Amino acid sequence: MIEKEIKDQILAKENLSKALEPNEDERKELLNKLETFCNNFIDQLENGKAYYENESPDRTKFAIDNQTYSFDHLLEIYTKEVLPHGVNPASGGHLGYIPGGGLFTSALGDYLAAISNEYAGIHFGSPGAVCMETELINWVKSIFGFPKTAIGNLSSGGSIANLIALNAARDSHEISSEKVKKSVIYLSKQVHHCIQKALRIIGLGESNIRYIALDEFHRMQSTDLEKKIAKDKMDGLNPYLIIASAGTTDTGAIDPLDEIANIAKANKMWFHVDAAYGGFFILCDSVKHKFKGIEKADSLVVDPHKGMFLPYGIGIVLVKDRSAMMHSNNYTANYMQDTFTNERIINPADVSPELTKHFRGLRMWLPLKLHGIQPFISCLEAKLLQTKYFLSLLKSHGFQTGIEPDLSVSYFWHEATNIENDLFNKQLMAFIHQDGRVFLSSSIINNKYVIRIAILSFRTKLNTIELGMEMILKARTKTLDFFKRSQNI
Ligand SMILES: Cc1ncc(COP(=O)(O)O)c(C=O)c1O
Repeated sequence: MIEKEIKDQILAKENLSKALEPNEDERKELLNKLETFCNNFIDQLENGKAYYENESPDRTKFAIDNQTYSFDHLLEIYTKEVLPHGVNPASGGHLGYIPGGGLFTSALGDYLAAISNEYAGIHFGSPGAVCMETELINWVKSIFGFPKTAIGNLSSGGSIANLIALNAARDSHEISSEKVKKSVIYLSKQVHHCIQKALRIIGLGESNIRYIALDEFHRMQSTDLEKKIAKDKMDGLNPYLIIASAGTTDTGAIDPLDEIANIAKANKMWFHVDAAYGGFFILCDSVKHKFKGIEKADSLVVDPHKGMFLPYGIGIVLVKDRSAMMHSNNYTANYMQDTFTNERIINPADVSPELTKHFRGLRMWLPLKLHGIQPFISCLEAKLLQTKYFLSLLKSHGFQTGIEPDLSVSYFWHEATNIENDLFNKQLMAFIHQDGRVFLSSSIINNKYVIRIAILSFRTKLNTIELGMEMILKARTKTLDFFKRSQNI
């Protein structure tokens, strides 16, 4: 009798939750709508804006209220409240910060990964998913000349990838809490701020941080590095970690990796390279030589959601010292006992803080297998050339530009007369943002307010650069007028 009651209740609840599994017709209808929506979105990118300087979205539209809405209505909310606000990272006109990408075929990989929901954390759960990710990591190792024995992980992005690598460095050098204050870490002021964040998160906030002098190309000066290490040793401190960049965020500079690698080796230190932005340019013959020495790094980070144009959500970390990588991350529990196998494949969950994670490999594997590697290389080569072209246009129109960049990030400013330079360029930036057809961001370099150009989107084309130039010239005219008027007042 009780069983009958329970069964009836179960069936009633199952009936009420039926909406969670749309039937085939319903699925087709939803997919058709989504397909039309996505096609329209992609088709309008070329003529749309890269930045919308407008009011915040109507937050009430996002509130969760236990009502049901049609898919059309929700797509309309997305169209009004999400898309036309802030930066449009899918646009080829996104030349600010470090642009993302959003390859269509990668999105298909995400869709397939989400539908099949393969468990990519542990080999036992999905040997196929874990093997696929392992092969991707092996490919990345081969690009950077890392040994087959190195291990890697697909993370959510560069910040977490750097965190994992720096954690391994700390564990490898056994920096226990008593040693933190005597330990020394060497980096440049140009490292991405996720490095400082990571150091704090892993308990190294109280270590000594030495900022190494930069040369005129914003690269770390290895002579200063050597000097500072020697002094710290003399002072009884424990220098153990050097963090270099292969493509800095501000200027795209590549530190002298080979020299730094040799210094690290001579001093028995861990050598980490953050190549989140610049790493994949190693595939381009024209700049490959600039990466010499990267193969000597103990750990390396590269971001496919930057240099491979994938949608946000994938970074890669490589570490040579297996036990260091495992030390903090490999932990077991009774409820995991079915997963203990003798497989020689590394479980992603044993080398990362994440246990359950999105099956990220598919979003990278699918485009690589569908398109091959060559289109990626050609696209990266195009970015280098587009940067050169943009800088040449800027110079010919009388702008000052940063030194010849190593990769595809540079900066410029207008040398103003009668007005303070920073004031002028801030106003110029404001007018550029107001226009929004091409999005640029600003920075402070050599104590000067500058406007950055970062070219990395696969959708940035020759005509995007020309449009950007036209937009900048228009904004400069407006800025000149603005100051003329304000001085007359
Ligand atoms: C050089 C560098 N390292 C790390 C990061 C952080 O990566 P993410 O934003 O994927 O966490 C960035 C982001 O732009 C970067 O340019």
